[in-house]
Amino acid sequence: MQLAILGSGFIARFYAESLVAQRRKDVVTMIYARDPEKVKAFAQQYDVPHYSTNLEEAVAHKDVDAVVVALPNHLHLQAVLACAKAGKHVLCTKPLGRNAAEALQMLQAVEKAGIVGGYLEDLCYTPKFLKSLSSVKNGAIGEVIWAKSRETHPGPHSDWFWSKEKAGGGCMIDLGCHCVEISRNFIGKDMLPIEVMCWADTRVHPIDAEDNAIGLVKYANGAIGQFEVSWSFRGGMDLRDEVMGTEGTIWLNNFLRTGFELFTTGKGNDYVAEKAESNTGWLFPVGDEVHELGYSHMFTDMFEAIEKGKQPSETFYDGYIVNAILDAAYASARSKQWEPVRIEDWRGANNTSQQRDFPSYDENYYLIKEELLPSGERKIIVKHKQTGSIEKR
Ligand SMILES: NC(=O)c1ccc[n+]([C@@H]2O[C@H](COP(=O)([O-])OP(=O)(O)OC[C@H]3O[C@@H](n4cnc5c(N)ncnc54)[C@H](O)[C@@H]3O)[C@@H](O)[C@H]2O)c1
Repeated sequence: MQLAILGSGFIARFYAESLVAQRRKDVVTMIYARDPEKVKAFAQQYDVPHYSTNLEEAVAHKDVDAVVVALPNHLHLQAVLACAKAGKHVLCTKPLGRNAAEALQMLQAVEKAGIVGGYLEDLCYTPKFLKSLSSVKNGAIGEVIWAKSRETHPGPHSDWFWSKEKAGGGCMIDLGCHCVEISRNFIGKDMLPIEVMCWADTRVHPIDAEDNAIGLVKYANGAIGQFEVSWSFRGGMDLRDEVMGTEGTIWLNNFLRTGFELFTTGKGNDYVAEKAESNTGWLFPVGDEVHELGYSHMFTDMFEAIEKGKQPSETFYDGYIVNAILDAAYASARSKQWEPVRIEDWRGANNTSQQRDFPSYDENYYLIKEELLPSGERKIIVKHKQTGSIEKR
């Protein structure tokens, strides 16, 4: 596959590291950026044969089969529309749109053009996440009741993120999009998100957008997706997920406690990990960040999908649903009420029910709880199926 990358900033470099630094059969043939010096330097560093300061020209180039959009949020729509016009497959970074209306335009454009629209949600491709998701799908933790995802760090690295207009919001659109899609995967993408309750506030930075937020997303089967996001967390980047099921539990820690701890007096003055606040003392490097953060698996899934004419695991439709959930979160933060998730084009299940088959103790009783106490006594608590009385056996 021959690829163009649009943008030469932070995420464009992560993408290039994943696409160029490993021996892949897919090659980056074109890089687009506004600044003639920067685009040339990027092309030289990553051995990219063509570069351009014209977006449409870069996308339409004959040596480009698919385009990777690594531009600020307010430029995603324009870039995706250019790809649709040129008939080039497009892989867009997160969040898909600044809101659901933008995301829907992008979804409709790629579907009309008959091209693949891949949603570059790397955190749904980390090795730990992929293993967790397959365990959940195999029933290892039973029915998911609650899936919580947290992404917090001291704030982003470029000016445009801090502009509510350019970014579409603050930490909620920037980081919440990851958390929402992680929870959605664990709960089941087929499950309709119904409503959102959210607190969001600007607590620390002199900006118009929120720098801290917590939200609850309620799904049709009663499951809850919880997101916790912050641009004022101190101590690096905290990326953690917790999934609670009827038969088990998953705890994931992607960044700060990965099993790799390093102490240094600071002599090497080394890069440690994304958003690390210190490079002396006890540190928590991540190792191969590109791999640990899911970029390698993500691109493999995207290119396989394009080659085989199928959809990747994360699509523009997923990006649109995430935007629709976040729109409801912003509405709830304003109204302080549960707000409905408005989806124009729901493609998942409709026949959901919250009915549960409770485990029986015997033909007359349900089993509520069984526990071995320190005294050696085994306590069994049951509920009568007809009378509802709660008893100890
Ligand atoms: N984990 C992830 O998936 C992840 C991580 C970081 C950023 N992102 C996303 O990637 C996108 C870019 O973020 P970033 O961190 O690389 O930002 P960045 O500021 O580091 O880079 C942005 C790039 O866009 C260029 N640019 C800015 N304004 C432009 C304009 N008007 N016209 C053309 N080019 C312009 C900049 O020169 C730069 O090359 C955002 O949508 C962000 O949400 C995703």
